Amino acid sequence: MNLKIGVIKGDGIGPEIVTEAMKVLDKTAEVYGHTCSYEQLLMGGASIDVHGIPLTDETIQRAKSCDAVLMGSIGGDAKTSPWYKLEPSKRPEAGLLKIRKELNLFANLRPAVLYEELKGACPLKEEITEGGFDMMIMRELTGGLYFGERKTVEENGVLTAMDSLCYNENEIRRIAKRGFDIAMKRRKKVTSVDKANVLDSSRLWRKVVEQAAEEYPEVTLEHMLVDNCAMQLVKDPKQFDVILTENMFGDILSDEASMVTGSIGMLASASLNETKFGLYEPSGGSAPDIAGKGIANPIATILSAAMMLRFSFDLDKEAEAIEEAVSRVLKEGCRTIDIMSEGKTQIGTAQMGDLITGYIGKH
Ligand code: IPM
Ligand code: MG
Repeated sequence: MNLKIGVIKGDGIGPEIVTEAMKVLDKTAEVYGHTCSYEQLLMGGASIDVHGIPLTDETIQRAKSCDAVLMGSIGGDAKTSPWYKLEPSKRPEAGLLKIRKELNLFANLRPAVLYEELKGACPLKEEITEGGFDMMIMRELTGGLYFGERKTVEENGVLTAMDSLCYNENEIRRIAKRGFDIAMKRRKKVTSVDKANVLDSSRLWRKVVEQAAEEYPEVTLEHMLVDNCAMQLVKDPKQFDVILTENMFGDILSDEASMVTGSIGMLASASLNETKFGLYEPSGGSAPDIAGKGIANPIATILSAAMMLRFSFDLDKEAEAIEEAVSRVLKEGCRTIDIMSEGKTQIGTAQMGDLITGYIGKH
């Protein structure tokens, strides 16, 4: 099979971590008899530097012509980078929001798994993490506060800013269905997270999720308020299977969930629409402070490439080969600095990519 993959290396550590994921993809393709053709796409600061805006219409068209897009990260240091002198709609993050919206990538899957080997990097007590945990955060990605009306006005010398949180029932229903579909392939439990004790949008969310649940009698549905969920994630992460939530809550909870797995450098993600197309990216940011140092963890990006093979190309065997290679390298005790613990061997970004590549197809 020929895999036509759009590649957005992006800013900060993006180019370094994507390079490693491409190495792993090329090797996987070679071992399993596929070919990868890459289309380099500019987005974020890298696009601002060339085109003056974070995402051009032409880039969107080129992304659409690919089967899937693999992305690194976008954005820079808000204090020092010239990109942040631009108006908000022209800054790097606006490119990411635009591509999500234009490609209708409403379903964001962020799996948070505690690897046995990484227990040492997990900040939680051993009795809490005993037996590991494995949850999937299903974040709605094209609605809510991120895309609602916003404005800043000055009245009588007083500045007032407003962002609106809006969802219609169709938007809630389609993400809920995705959440239940995923749960059916896992442990059949959905925790829908909202703030229904305060927000109208959450009350509608709860109602529509309950309606959607009727079509999935085998799935256990529970509702949880977002503040409680933030607490439960560190108190008892094992209780979660699928966490289904709106855009902003998902953004916050997924960073929290990643930290309890040891590092945000381990958290992959897939953003999907109604077709097989997807945008795959690590959940972490561009980490400008460590960019170019060769120390960033490429594993989240490599695992995102595995998700791409599974969801966009139905290549399950190939995806598993990548996941197994990651596990093997971790078992051997090799670690990037973010997941380093006593007695392990610290290695850099490229070395991590090389080691994982070396295990593809080796049993
Ligand atoms: C993420 C990031 C983005 C988001 C930023 C960079 C706009 O934090 O993918 O979680 O908030 O969605
Ligand atoms: Mg985030």
